[in-house]
Amino acid sequence: MRLVVDQDAELELANIQEGVFAPLSGFFGGKDYRSVVDEMHIQNGSPWTIPVTLDLDEGEVKRATSSGVLTLIRHDGTELGKLEVEDIFRVDLEHDLQKVFGTTDRRHPGVDKEGSRSPYRVGGKVRPTRLVTNHSAPASFSPVETRKIFRERGWKSVAGFQTRNPIHKAHEYLQRLALEMTDGLFLQPLIGWKKSGDIAPEAVVASYRRMVKDFYPLDRVLFGTLRTPMRYAGPREAVFHAIVRRNYGCTHFIVGRDHAGVGNYYGKYEAQDFCKKFPDLGIKILDFAGPYFCGACGHIVTERSCPHGEKYVVHVSGTEVRDRLRRGEKPPVEYMRPEIAEVLLEMQKEGKLFIED
Ligand code: ADX
Repeated sequence: MRLVVDQDAELELANIQEGVFAPLSGFFGGKDYRSVVDEMHIQNGSPWTIPVTLDLDEGEVKRATSSGVLTLIRHDGTELGKLEVEDIFRVDLEHDLQKVFGTTDRRHPGVDKEGSRSPYRVGGKVRPTRLVTNHSAPASFSPVETRKIFRERGWKSVAGFQTRNPIHKAHEYLQRLALEMTDGLFLQPLIGWKKSGDIAPEAVVASYRRMVKDFYPLDRVLFGTLRTPMRYAGPREAVFHAIVRRNYGCTHFIVGRDHAGVGNYYGKYEAQDFCKKFPDLGIKILDFAGPYFCGACGHIVTERSCPHGEKYVVHVSGTEVRDRLRRGEKPPVEYMRPEIAEVLLEMQKEGKLFIED
């Protein structure tokens, strides 16, 4: 049977094949799915916090049950791979959304997206026909490639950095801290699906290219992209992001304030606390406290290094930054380097800065 899959599934197929999602070798069957949702581990005991599943429409369930192997195809008819059907199951959307996201509120973008999926899923090992997606992405490396690069550069310790945003000064502070602690830094913005209103992947990539070219030591930084959808699942997604970077060969992973969070659904440092529940991730979490600009210090600082307190903190909200960029204005220098703002304003002129509805 031929099964048309969407872009998210195509990305995950490539991630499974390339080892980005090791130890997974396919889409989850019902048992692993339940164990991940309820116990945050796959059945072999490995930590895993975000389900990786493939949808079936209700009408496809019968046919899929009787065919042992599914041929996965893209909308344009390109064959992507085969899936050996091991299990077809139904998920309990409301219960599982609550478990994974901590809420069933449809105003949460990840809940809204997951909640609109079919409850029927098909699990089994996958054999991609050819790698179509990942290598057409900008600066996309497989884990085999990054591990080779880290080895060739002599990096014994490498800090991974996840982001969905253009680089700002708090990000830069965290990254420079990591550069003081490890041999190398792997900057890896996520460029899969993101909610409308977020900054478009091309703009995030452009900001990082400029940053790396002009402000970072080239021999100590590697820039690449991660192709998987954002979930906005906060703590659970932080663990998932860490596992993925471990697979790329990182020894450390930065988790800052409200990692992979959205709105007020998760606490400022909930993701960091949650990561501590997984001592067997195989990667060390760098749980840095949130840096901010202190007007009295005239610098980016943290609570640990600055005595002035809340009164002098320069608060710049994401909404304010986006509004300014929409109007063609640079965000405050306390928030973002002017050179990075220039890159983003160029994108704005071309109508490529934001993901629109
Ligand atoms: S996301 O992928 O985690 O949603 P985002 O770009 O917002 O991306 O953040 C990237 C990383 O930087 C995360 O680890 C996040 O916790 C951290 N971070 C972002 N902004 C701050 C900040 N102001 N203070 C501390 N950490 C931050």
